[in-house]
Amino acid sequence: MKIIAATLAMTLAMAAGTAEGKTTKEQAITKAKSMVKQLGSGLKGELQSAVKKSGFAGAVTACGEIAQAKAEQISQDNSSMIHRVSLKTRNPANTPDDYERARLQRMERDLANGALKKAYVEVVMKDGAKSLRFMKPILTSAFCLNCHGAESKIKPGVAAILSRLYPEDKARGYKENQVRGAFSVTVPMDR
Ligand code: HEC
Repeated sequence: MKIIAATLAMTLAMAAGTAEGKTTKEQAITKAKSMVKQLGSGLKGELQSAVKKSGFAGAVTACGEIAQAKAEQISQDNSSMIHRVSLKTRNPANTPDDYERARLQRMERDLANGALKKAYVEVVMKDGAKSLRFMKPILTSAFCLNCHGAESKIKPGVAAILSRLYPEDKARGYKENQVRGAFSVTVPMDR
């Protein structure tokens, strides 16, 4: 009887927690997935139409500004944080934190071993606050090499613009099907 009462009390407490607006892991994952989808499909569309309209050189500026603005807007709309990160950044604003760096390194190892996951998900505690960390790898295709490939793949006009806009650019020299980076989402779970 005591056990039943205790279980009941716990169940009620958990239900109350949810009712008060605490985010469950499933809810946080759903949110993270939808944020990645919005940013991913948005960027892909913008990038392709910018290339069509003004070539790879013209798409460089469009892509940089749009990527940052879109990520910020989606973050605000969801009271969470999404951005793109990489071990070899073009824009230093996309530098990973320690957690993201370790995950990106794991993705590279997993890809080499044929065991890359679609997403890397974990609930973490930091400074007493609980949050979901959700990371989805971004792989290179042939299309990407026009701006992220070896020198021979990037047209001189494109290379010149990249060097002017991103003097600290490290995001070149990639081949097809490598980990270019990841979408990284942090969803606070205490509310
Ligand atoms: C027209 C040139 C162009 C093409 C094509 C392009 N990118 Fe980029 N990429 C950029 C620019 C410019 C940035 C810097 C964006 C910023 O300022 O945040 C960037 C940044 C990134 C980042 C963020 C990390 C970083 O290095 O700063 C990722 C991830 C990325 N690109 C992946 C890709 C993938 C995957 C493809 C192919 C599907 C691709 N890019 C195709 C120009 C391009």
